[in-house]
Amino acid sequence: MGVASFWHVFEGFMLVESSQSHSWDFGHADHSGSRRPLAFRSAPSHFLPLKTTMFSRLSASKAALKPVATAARIPSLPSSTVRFLSSNAGQAAAQPPLASRTALATASIFTVGSIAWYTHLYGSLPFVGEVHANSPAEDGLHPTAYPWSHNGLLDTFDHASIRRGYQVYREVCAACHSLDRIAWRNLVGVSHTADEARAMAEEVEYQDGPNDAGEMFTRPGKLSDYLPAPYPNEEAARASNAGALPPDLSLIVKARHGGRDYIFSLLTGYVDPPAGVEIRDGMNYNPFFPGGAISMARVLFDGLVEYEDGTPATTSQMAKDVVTFLHWAAEPEHDERKKIGLKAVILFSALTAISLYVKRAKWAGVKTRKILYTPPVDKHH
Ligand code: HEC
Repeated sequence: MGVASFWHVFEGFMLVESSQSHSWDFGHADHSGSRRPLAFRSAPSHFLPLKTTMFSRLSASKAALKPVATAARIPSLPSSTVRFLSSNAGQAAAQPPLASRTALATASIFTVGSIAWYTHLYGSLPFVGEVHANSPAEDGLHPTAYPWSHNGLLDTFDHASIRRGYQVYREVCAACHSLDRIAWRNLVGVSHTADEARAMAEEVEYQDGPNDAGEMFTRPGKLSDYLPAPYPNEEAARASNAGALPPDLSLIVKARHGGRDYIFSLLTGYVDPPAGVEIRDGMNYNPFFPGGAISMARVLFDGLVEYEDGTPATTSQMAKDVVTFLHWAAEPEHDERKKIGLKAVILFSALTAISLYVKRAKWAGVKTRKILYTPPVDKHH
């Protein structure tokens, strides 16, 4: 439907509207209605809206428009008696909503205000790409997507790997990084047995108290204790690391863009700085770290730990294990989540199938019925 025919339909509407209010005529002096179109002449007034609308829509409103054209063409009529339908059909109703300057100004101010408020809250509009002048080096090299064994929709963590990863964390990373959100009890049933976890906890002294004499005392750890932090506070951590703070690793997999792939790449990605790149003393070059210069030196070297299960402790093996462990630490519900997801998919597909079946059964009678009209038999014939 072109613009012109749309306009016809629209005028058809206006015709109907005004015919109800009786505030118009077709442009002739007498109101006998001899020139009225067919639809208007015969139809009772309450029937007009539907009939005329349908009529004008279906036939591109030729009939409904005729009177307008006729009226406009009659030259002998004084112009004051010619009243055009579309211009007469209630000024207020026909006016577009933004016609007045006040309305236009209000709408503009409202729009500009909303955008200003949104960008103030959220930084930029969602559909406008962020523009920044960073080079790839400043953003850090994009990590490779590695085929983690728990990648798939139904794949759970490799728990032997979590156990080895804990060993790497404990023997290497724990010298600088805390793991505040993990308690010894969390390891039970995941990477260690209850007895193993209890034994590991007991090797650590925890401060407790006060006792009856009001003094703090130390005691061996319990399953309910959290893993010990390497430094008592942030200042101590910075003082030992040339001013840099080793972040807590509990949620690091969720806290970094690229997650596990990034951390694996970071741990295995230390190289000599390329020509032209100056690295300050005490800093290290890692292309995956945004900016390239990181305070943490390379910490993993082949054979650094000795795995109890005999797995060769190469740099990449240890990195993979410790990242799996850190991923578990950040997302301990991971395995359970996928298990529940599978159950939910099965359950909801069954429910969907049942409801489709019931719907068809209920509607079958309605959809397949045939309505017949049997005319009454004329008995007098
Ligand atoms: C000698 C101390 C030390 C050891 C050991 C250490 N780190 Fe770090 N780590 C740091 C410091 C310091 C930083 C802060 C780096 C910075 O902001 O420049 C850091 C930062 C990090 C980061 C954050 C990088 C980022 O994007 O901000 C991760 C992840 C990390 N370390 C993982 C590990 C893992 C895993 C291990 C064990 C395999 C480990 N670290 C061992 C000192 C250490």
